[in-house]
Amino acid sequence: MSAKYDGLSLLRRMRRNRASSSVRSLVRENRLSKGNLVQPLFVRGGGGGPDPVESMPGVLRHTLGSLTEECRGLEGRGITAVALFPSIEASKKDPLGTHATSRDNILFKAIRAVKSACPSLLLITDVALDPYTSHGHDGLLNDKGDVDNDSTVVALRKLALAQAQAGADVVAPSDMMDGRVRAIRECLDGEGLSQTSILAYAAKYASGYYGPFRDAVKSGAHAAPLDKRTYQMDPSNVREALLEVKLDEEEGADMVMVKPAGPYLDVIRAVRETTLLPLAAYQVSGEYAQIHAAARLGWLDYATTRDESLLAIKRAGADMIFTYFASEVADSLPQ
Ligand code: PBG
Repeated sequence: MSAKYDGLSLLRRMRRNRASSSVRSLVRENRLSKGNLVQPLFVRGGGGGPDPVESMPGVLRHTLGSLTEECRGLEGRGITAVALFPSIEASKKDPLGTHATSRDNILFKAIRAVKSACPSLLLITDVALDPYTSHGHDGLLNDKGDVDNDSTVVALRKLALAQAQAGADVVAPSDMMDGRVRAIRECLDGEGLSQTSILAYAAKYASGYYGPFRDAVKSGAHAAPLDKRTYQMDPSNVREALLEVKLDEEEGADMVMVKPAGPYLDVIRAVRETTLLPLAAYQVSGEYAQIHAAARLGWLDYATTRDESLLAIKRAGADMIFTYFASEVADSLPQ
């Protein structure tokens, strides 16, 4: 049978709308733009040069100098927001994470340096104790070895205030303690910082995909992977995510997040349909690492899977995407 054979009388041929890049562009339902992307960045204390994170190709633990240079470059490429995470020397960690609010925490220096180099770049900081605790948990442990909710909230409130005072535009509690959004909001308002926003990591799952991040902030140098299941969510649950979002909304969150992103697209969709707040999704370190690893083995095409992974998160309903790919995809995207 020849390829010209046109024997089927089909009223609807779906392929007509896919026949050229011009028509594909016209009928495209979802698009990424660089204005929706947030670039996570790491800054290191303790001297030495920028230090590559082995499990995250292309990602560095920056010095203050390389961090501000990177931020200028991002701004030049049209990225409008960054999320900053510190990597703290082991010698400064203790069970209470006291270095978190010490005046010489590298994070505060980094916040000031970035805000003075790039005043209009939106700066988001992470409110959790894991970079500072010797055990690597996000909060303070009780005598059973579990993270104690209420004393942790007190410590987090202090950390969020210090970040806001240093110049952070958005504080983002990623710890999953109950009641921390309200505590932080009241504290910021009481200190005259009513303009500082709160992005709540509302539905954050106890995920295996955080491995490379723990490597980056050196919070995972432990014999076994850290078990955070008494505070982060069970990967089986969706309804619970909606309740978490509702509570954070009632406590005063300005934006909410689902994390990880790719393995939780159904949760992103469900949250999108129940909240009126802006919704962020975090394409986490393990999602980034797995694309790099498979591409390195020649098993996946790097750029195709990278772009598809981001588009899928957008299509699921995220308004903004935290992604380690932000910088490299920016040039090919509209504002
Ligand atoms: C910790 C925190 C984590 C990430 C962001 N903040 C790791 C964790 O909860 O163990 C993960 C980000 C990533 O994997 O890219 N407060």
